[in-house]
Amino acid sequence: MLDPFGRSIEYLRLSITDRCNLRCRYCMPEDGVAPLAHGDILSYEELLRVARSCVALGIRKIRVTGGEPLVRRGVVDFIAQLTALPETPKVVLTTNGLLLAEMAAPLKAAGLKRVNVSLDTLRSERFAALTRRGGLDQVLAGIAAAEAVGLNPVKVNVIPLRGINDDELVDFARLTLDHPWEVRFIEFMPISPDLEYGSTARVPMIEVERQLQSLGALEPLPRRKSAGPARLFRLPGARGSLGLIPSVSGHFCPECNRLRVTADGRVRGCLFGNQEIDLKLVLRGGGDDAALVELLRAAICAKPEKHAIGSPEFTAPNRRMQGIGG
Ligand code: GTP
Ligand code: 5AD
Ligand code: SF4
Repeated sequence: MLDPFGRSIEYLRLSITDRCNLRCRYCMPEDGVAPLAHGDILSYEELLRVARSCVALGIRKIRVTGGEPLVRRGVVDFIAQLTALPETPKVVLTTNGLLLAEMAAPLKAAGLKRVNVSLDTLRSERFAALTRRGGLDQVLAGIAAAEAVGLNPVKVNVIPLRGINDDELVDFARLTLDHPWEVRFIEFMPISPDLEYGSTARVPMIEVERQLQSLGALEPLPRRKSAGPARLFRLPGARGSLGLIPSVSGHFCPECNRLRVTADGRVRGCLFGNQEIDLKLVLRGGGDDAALVELLRAAICAKPEKHAIGSPEFTAPNRRMQGIGG
């Protein structure tokens, strides 16, 4: 379906839980975040109804997100049900990788196509400090398992943070020399003002690009449709590729093809906006799928033309990243 600005909405980001087994400092406050009440979270049955209605509106790719989606019990069966929907949408997942080593094979068997793994440092102690938990080896084992079972190409999401991991960007890029991964650098988006890191932590992509050039000339790769907002490059002789995502300094809103649904059943047209429509009104109010489709259609029609992050008139959204699913 086209939105009022002519963008074809084909990609759903479906958050299945707000819980997470890490506490990344740029994402959550020290004490964590009060979790949604169990009854507020959509059941898998309800999530499937939402997904089916989205498919009816033309969604062809579904990204399962969190919090951390792999902490929700039954996620593998749920993914099998998503992949069995009419039109067989492409189902992918974003994870912190902690539970991936044991789950990669069942996820692949359930029909999952690919995984994106968030990883911001390759140093154990730093990982423990940044995530307030630890588990770097488990994440690395998870990435290896995903590759081994064929969830390819595995994408590794790195958020460069000034003074925290900006001395490791070249190490991350070097991983692509021997591994067929897509290592993507994502500009930090300061959307929750109460966290330790604000806009001064953001490393602009232009600066990341300059650092990576110390490894040799970056060969630009043709834009794949599935690359989303990333600009892709390859290091000379590398097996994998590099992606640069200027979330703040870039302006990819004109190409935005996404719709988001939170774990408590609210559909959002924009990551940064505050407009939400509560799908529970229909899901729990006895409405049929046609009514659900109408709410989703309304959300697509209300998609803003662009976000204002980075400009003075920007106000923080009503939810944290972990409550939206990125
Ligand atoms: P692919 O489908 O593999 O391209 O993944 P993806 O980039 O859609 O998903 P992922 O969960 O890996 O998200 C990567 C990051 O891209 C997000 O966390 C954001 O930083 C950025 N991003 C995703 N969607 C948007 C968006 O709508 N606006 C902005 N500004 N950034 C976004
Ligand atoms: N800015 C940019 N990316 C973020 N992520 C989480 N919080 C932020 C933020 N403030 C990333 C995660 C994950 C993806 C879904 O979003 O690291 O890779
Ligand atoms: Fe870290 Fe993602 Fe969990 Fe936030 S939701 S604490 S970014 S792993």
